[in-house]
Amino acid sequence: MITDDRTDRTWTPAADRYATTDYRRAGRSGLALPPISLGLWQNFGADRPLATPRAILRRAFDLGVTHIDLANNYGPPHGAAETTFGAVLASDLRPYRDELLISTKAGYDMWPGPYGDGGSRKYLVASLDQSLRRTGLDYVDVFYSHRRDPDTPLEETMGALDAVVRAGKALYVGISNYSPADTARAAELLADLGTPLTLHQPRYSIFDRHVEAGVLDAAAAAGAGVAVFSPLAQGRLTDRYLHGVPEGSRATRSAYLSSEDVTQDLVDRAKALDEIAGARGQTLAQLALRWVLRDTRVTTALIGASSVAQLEANLQALSGPDLTAEELTAVERWAAPSGGTL
Ligand SMILES: NC(=O)c1ccc[n+]([C@@H]2O[C@H](COP(=O)([O-])OP(=O)(O)OC[C@H]3O[C@@H](n4cnc5c(N)ncnc54)[C@H](OP(=O)(O)O)[C@@H]3O)[C@@H](O)[C@H]2O)c1
Repeated sequence: MITDDRTDRTWTPAADRYATTDYRRAGRSGLALPPISLGLWQNFGADRPLATPRAILRRAFDLGVTHIDLANNYGPPHGAAETTFGAVLASDLRPYRDELLISTKAGYDMWPGPYGDGGSRKYLVASLDQSLRRTGLDYVDVFYSHRRDPDTPLEETMGALDAVVRAGKALYVGISNYSPADTARAAELLADLGTPLTLHQPRYSIFDRHVEAGVLDAAAAAGAGVAVFSPLAQGRLTDRYLHGVPEGSRATRSAYLSSEDVTQDLVDRAKALDEIAGARGQTLAQLALRWVLRDTRVTTALIGASSVAQLEANLQALSGPDLTAEELTAVERWAAPSGGTL
């Protein structure tokens, strides 16, 4: 159950919230995104009191982070992150709705039975209606097919994305975790329907470069922008695990990262990268964010944060200098090979 102190209704966002951010256009669309966006996959479930999520969302908006990324199943439990966002929208952000770019998705397991998973029109349309109810939004800015469902014709999944735009429930559409070939075909189908593919959302970090083997090219060819997720490798490209696995970290409390995923090899690489970051006056997390953003096909890096301090530190990535050729070469030694994953 979410608890909240609703007595503080005096919040007003920072007047200078757009002073320092250089927004980046998503592909050939007119849509501008901040270079670093906030995702609510973890840390925004019903297992945490509302105070921290609320503080993080407020601070993000203060710092020019206009884009918040959701999915139907973010929690725990499923749906809870949308409910949390809805609570903060109601208490704080509602007057600024038109300054916010909110995305959600459907594609993975959400409710029992044949209509709560996959890529059917039945599932996608019903799920978006549920997301709108949980968030209290009239429409989302971006609606994604969260994964390619091999049991549903791509025509049907793309038709559902087109339909929700025509129904006024979403402004733009995207795909997530699609292969290069499926990306190209999805973009073609959407173009034929008159609803362009605006964003692709794949995983990308120094430790996971599979998108360099085709996804980035396919998105660029389709004129779509790219919102990359887990750019910090869920914390393994920060100082979080450099000296062991601390209690309360994601590796101790999430179903999606275990202490076994924090391998000695990755820690050794992170330590070496941390030195490269230190030499340029940045933290490892800041270096990791600048690294994904060096590619102009990447529109935004979707980060997670469990505290305001993490969010603030990560946004500082943007104030450092561009990565030099020497620094990029130094990173290469510890990174996954281009097109590969560690
Ligand atoms: N489309 C998809 O299939 C998909 C899949 C995954 C994610 N996403 C999207 O991408 C977003 C980001 O994913 P992610 O949370 O995995 O991203 P991430 O930025 O790689 O990892 C975030 C985690 O790293 C740690 N961290 C962040 N900044 C830190 C800092 N400065 N110092 C120390 N630790 C720090 C925190 O872990 P602690 O909790 O340990 O503090 C935080 O929760 C998600 O919220 C979601 O919107 C999409």
